[in-house]
Amino acid sequence: MYNLLKGKKGIIFGALDSKSIAWKVAERAHEEGATFVLTNAPVALRLGTISELADKTGSQVIPADATSMMDLENLIDKSTEILGGKIDFVLHSIGMSVNVRRGNHYTNQDYNFTKTGWDVSALSFHRLMSMLYKKDAMNEWGSVVALTYMAAQRVFPDYNDMADNKAYLESVARSFGYFFGRDKKVRVNTISQSPTPTTAGSGVKGFDGFIAYAEEMSPLGNATALECADYTISLFSDLTKKVTLQNLFHDGGFSNMGVSNAIMDNFMESFDHEGAVAEETKTKKEK
Ligand SMILES: NC(=O)c1ccc[n+]([C@@H]2O[C@H](COP(=O)([O-])OP(=O)(O)OC[C@H]3O[C@@H](n4cnc5c(N)ncnc54)[C@H](O)[C@@H]3O)[C@@H](O)[C@H]2O)c1
Repeated sequence: MYNLLKGKKGIIFGALDSKSIAWKVAERAHEEGATFVLTNAPVALRLGTISELADKTGSQVIPADATSMMDLENLIDKSTEILGGKIDFVLHSIGMSVNVRRGNHYTNQDYNFTKTGWDVSALSFHRLMSMLYKKDAMNEWGSVVALTYMAAQRVFPDYNDMADNKAYLESVARSFGYFFGRDKKVRVNTISQSPTPTTAGSGVKGFDGFIAYAEEMSPLGNATALECADYTISLFSDLTKKVTLQNLFHDGGFSNMGVSNAIMDNFMESFDHEGAVAEETKTKKEK
């Protein structure tokens, strides 16, 4: 490995199990020489396997519901105490839609669920940065990264209200990133990741078909959770000091594609097949 994060201190949100993107980021950050605190919602700590990751990376776990300012304050205070100083990097890897979980169609939402999903998935990023900013908890040239998805820009019908949450999240990254950069020399970016088979990802309706589609659309294929972790490490490192206010696509090229040969071949195959069936039916009727 490259010692890219040697001596750096961080907070990593969102490692639920070994499939989580945050889990891979924690493993890679550890390999690159960082020390960090792991955090997740109290309920996730009970359901998941985070203590395994904590043992493996020599980290402590501090519970925090990302929608609670009190929890965030406690997390930041304790983290700076445990790590022995200010923070160099923070990963926000949090997403949840109650409407998706309950199977509500986008056109027929329960708005209380919408508010909860927005608070957890999007406003939490503002809350987190606001607490870090007010407490002056970040070192200069520190880096904050949140994970997002391209449904913030384009229509993916089954991504539901998470599309709106991601659009808000990306906007917060730019708006807060301005003040964090100007006042504290901290950079803020979002990584727009390929569909990835994790607990949150697999909750989206039709995920299996969609991940296969994205694979065939992308010249480099889908980016894995581990590859996302590698990219995140580069954004935490000193090699990307002037990258800020960006939404960075990490998707094997998917976001700039119109159509690929592989997708067209599949489409034409079924098109030809349907055409042949229609022709046969017509011939039978004529006889
Ligand atoms: N999996 C994908 O296809 C994909 C693609 C692009 C972006 N993302 C984004 O990546 C991020 C991580 O998701 P993942 O795919 O690793 O799935 P995951 O389910 O492993 O992680 C989601 C995490 O959010 C945490 N969380 C939920 N409510 C919380 C709360 N109130 N407070 C604190 N934490 C809370 C969960 O406990 C969990 O650890 C999310 O922002 C997700 O939207 C995922």
